[in-house]
Amino acid sequence: MAQRQPLTIALSKGRILKETLPLLRAAGIELLEDPETSRRLVFETSRADVRILILRATDVPPYVQYGAADMGVAGKDVLMEHGAAGLCEPLDLEIARCRLMVAALKDAPEVTGRVRVATKFVNVARSHFASRGRQADVIKLYGAMELAPLVGLADRIVDVVDTGNTLRANGLEPVELIARVSSRLVVNRASLKTRHAEIREIMDLMEAAVRERREEKA
Ligand code: ATP
Ligand code: PRP
Repeated sequence: MAQRQPLTIALSKGRILKETLPLLRAAGIELLEDPETSRRLVFETSRADVRILILRATDVPPYVQYGAADMGVAGKDVLMEHGAAGLCEPLDLEIARCRLMVAALKDAPEVTGRVRVATKFVNVARSHFASRGRQADVIKLYGAMELAPLVGLADRIVDVVDTGNTLRANGLEPVELIARVSSRLVVNRASLKTRHAEIREIMDLMEAAVRERREEKA
């Protein structure tokens, strides 16, 4: 019989990766090479039936949606922005916690009429302001959102906030909470049916690793 493709898991690089690797290790899945030093994008693991892709955080949802990866790990912020098509989200990994917030210059006046919003989360921002009956012009940026209100590009930004240090350092303050964020395990809907037993096994191992970590921290 033909050898089956290994189960493919897409991970977000950067801060999420740092917190995901210990969970995977606790679930018995270890990368054979150090992703910090390797230029590889595809990694073999201690399990011959599992391989790992390491991607930009925003690229994880499309890889999983279209089935190039069976499973993935991505921030709720990125998942909200991408939308849920083709994906299910069975497990909160309780890592990379932050909040998606609207922020403004400290003591900025209320905006009457249309509000200009700079963000990389354009879909989230549009639906947030629409749900409040606010007319918003949303400007897509790819980084350093905090700069936009300082130089008059926008009245508001939508960005992730953890300690609030980045906002404070730039004379900004949070004004509305949009969502609490943590990283989630996501699964391709078709894979969940066709490779159910393999995926279930990994989900259960990851769930146990999350529980163990939570108990250690308590
Ligand atoms: P890229 O470099 O691809 O543009 P990025 O700079 O947003 O991505 P990271 O800063 O590593 O990448 O953030 C990835 C994810 O980590 C975010 O989508 C969010 O879920 C979470 N995150 C971002 N900032 C923080 C933070 N300050 N504290 C905790 N989690 C965060
Ligand atoms: C993220 C995010 C904010 C900051 C919020 O940036 O884009 O700017 O963290 O965290 P804080 O509230 O604790 O200051 P990051 O540090 O990941 O740098 P980046 O801009 O390269 O993504």
